[in-house]
Amino acid sequence: MLLKDKLIEVQGEGKAILATNFYNFETLKGVLQAAATLNSPIILQLTQSSIDYMGLENAVGMAQTGLKYFNVEGWVHLDHGGSVELAEQCLKAGFDSVMFDGSELSLEENIEKTKRVVKLAKNYSANVEAELGYIAKLGQSKEKVFFTEVADAKIFAKETGVNALAVAIGTAHGFYKSEPKLDFVRLEEIKNATSVPLVLHGGSGVPGESVRKAVSLGICKLNVATEIKNIFMQTLKELLSQNTEIDLRKVFPPATEAVAKLVQDKLLLVK
Ligand code: 13P
Repeated sequence: MLLKDKLIEVQGEGKAILATNFYNFETLKGVLQAAATLNSPIILQLTQSSIDYMGLENAVGMAQTGLKYFNVEGWVHLDHGGSVELAEQCLKAGFDSVMFDGSELSLEENIEKTKRVVKLAKNYSANVEAELGYIAKLGQSKEKVFFTEVADAKIFAKETGVNALAVAIGTAHGFYKSEPKLDFVRLEEIKNATSVPLVLHGGSGVPGESVRKAVSLGICKLNVATEIKNIFMQTLKELLSQNTEIDLRKVFPPATEAVAKLVQDKLLLVK
């Protein structure tokens, strides 16, 4: 099923699809193991840095092969695409979905560029996600967050014909210093103003009950990245500090398992 149709389906059921970033074979394997165990659909996300690290064709090929190998329903998605050109490159390489992140542009420019990506994506029957408002990125000040304006969301969805919209309602990428407080009133207003499936970025560290509430109020896609990177590296560091094993095929599996366990917990939140 196309991702844009799947998002409409889960929207009707009051559920969401988990979207997890992967960075290498081991994190991809952990995510797929979790999805296979729970028989859950999954969105496999790649940022520009992960594409640069693994290589475009290699990264998308790994994800597509992994989905088949684990018999999981899933899609490959470009996370925070910074240009129309990158979105086009990814569509050509076989991505099922691309995000065009014009959140730092003016509303008009964001609409204009998102429209171009929507037009391109039609040729591939691909899903397009955009961001409106501003969700702080890793390493940036969280004060910089601009919440999504309800009226803008309505205009943006109508003008662009985008399939999914990332909203700024109080989350930020990376770890939080204190528990994030989500603006559920705003979320509900956005949901009532537009029928486009909504996306929650910055899922790491958001308490489970807040995620559940956000899903009940229209979030159809939940993004989680930082917690995956963190648990993989923390597990690995601990293991390596205790032994001198050089066979990486023995060292990596517990870290992969830790990713699988984390992703299972996240999947249960959106089911
Ligand atoms: P976190 O890294 O905070 O989980 O955010 C993930 C995300 O939103 C990717 O776009």
